[in-house]
Amino acid sequence: MGTTAELKLEGKPYELPIIVGSHNEKAVDIRKLRGDTGYVTLDSGYENTGACQSKITYIDGDNGILKYRGIPIEVLAEKSDFVETSYLLIYGKLPTKVELSNFSRELTYHSLIHEDMLRFYDGYPPSAHPMAILSSMVCSLSAYYPDSLDPNDPKQVDNLIPRVMSKIRTIAAYSYKKSIGQPVMYPVNRLDYCSNFLHMMFAVPSEQYEIDPEVVKALNLLLILHADHEQNCSTSTVRIVGSSDANLFASIAAGILALWGPKHGGANQAVMEMLEEIQRNGGDTDAAIRAAKDKNSGFRLSGFGHRVYKNFDPRAKVIKVACDKVLAKMGVNDPLLDIAKRLEEAALNDPYFVERKLYPNVDFYSGILYRAMGIPNEMFTVMFALGRLPGWISHWKELKESNERIGRPRQIYTGPAHAEYVPIEKR
Ligand code: CMC
Repeated sequence: MGTTAELKLEGKPYELPIIVGSHNEKAVDIRKLRGDTGYVTLDSGYENTGACQSKITYIDGDNGILKYRGIPIEVLAEKSDFVETSYLLIYGKLPTKVELSNFSRELTYHSLIHEDMLRFYDGYPPSAHPMAILSSMVCSLSAYYPDSLDPNDPKQVDNLIPRVMSKIRTIAAYSYKKSIGQPVMYPVNRLDYCSNFLHMMFAVPSEQYEIDPEVVKALNLLLILHADHEQNCSTSTVRIVGSSDANLFASIAAGILALWGPKHGGANQAVMEMLEEIQRNGGDTDAAIRAAKDKNSGFRLSGFGHRVYKNFDPRAKVIKVACDKVLAKMGVNDPLLDIAKRLEEAALNDPYFVERKLYPNVDFYSGILYRAMGIPNEMFTVMFALGRLPGWISHWKELKESNERIGRPRQIYTGPAHAEYVPIEKR
């Protein structure tokens, strides 16, 4: 195969370089296209656009493969924990014992947020969605680190990374405490990352809180499975915001907002609401399938379908198995799990879903696990954000290290070529 592609425009041939990825994925390099030909490409939704070259995560959507830094997700789910996987994503390799213990210590040490920030929580109404609180609090963190915000100073970036990971976990737990009217629980430094989060979420000052190791294990698993997914909507947002030299807090806050939408991370909350609705209606999954197929209903089967996976989402496979195991170990019998399984089976046997290659995605079963841990629906997308943090950070870091140019897509203007300004009294 040649190393260039030929494009003929208005009778004139142009050579375009071919770029080949580690798994032989091929791309036509059009970076010089506009300069050479005056043409741009049109790809709304970016289905065919490689926005960058990245060494972080590989997805084969046809074969249901997902790897972080070359390691299959199933292996990490079985052998690693969230802190180690975060290190792998952010720093590009598995840590040594010393590196891991230093990273864990940093994550522990920076877990407090400035005491003044606690007052921000009082300004939100009790009904505030925790994603609204999370995004604005994360952006507010930048106000407290004026000397560490230079995205092009690797030392400042290194200082900021554990702070971002550690403080966002604290902010997430506090926003839950605020929503249920309980006092915030300060982090406890002898606890590991996930246990500390559970303590801040569920402990109360008046009682001893016992951390269930099964819950810690399940939380590690879920966070690992959410840790990165290459150029998804929120990660692309983080990269594009970061490309303007915005600081890490601002870029992550933007990613959190992109994640909130129900077509992206908000789907896990939408799945549970859908399953609860089916349960209220007597468990009739057929009605949901019918509505999802009816384009006029405006309803989609939440947790189904994916832009990249046209086969099983490997994360959903792992979570489904974990649901059975963890719920059994915890002695939880959730009727929503049964509804979810029946809904999945009905969809996988329905030509509408088969023809469109719509399979359960990561969000389909994750809510059931979160629910078993005692985490309420409104917090599910916050949990996704916690998991996706190392992915956002690693992409932001990669972008900075590769000196990428500012993200600035073009458009094809289709409005009026010329319009007159009509005075208001004549309109
Ligand atoms: N239920 C019913 N029909 C669907 C669904 C669904 N969940 N997903 C896609 N379709 C149909 C869609 O109507 C279209 O049909 P047609 O060809 O007749 O017009 C076809 O399948 C292709 O859909 P699309 O919207 O062009 O696909 P997309 O790649 O732009 O969207 C998606 C991907 C994930 C946004 C979409 O599948 C969806 O809305 N799913 C439900 C929300 C969801 O679960 N999101 C979580 C995604 S995974 C985790 C994450 O990224 O956060």
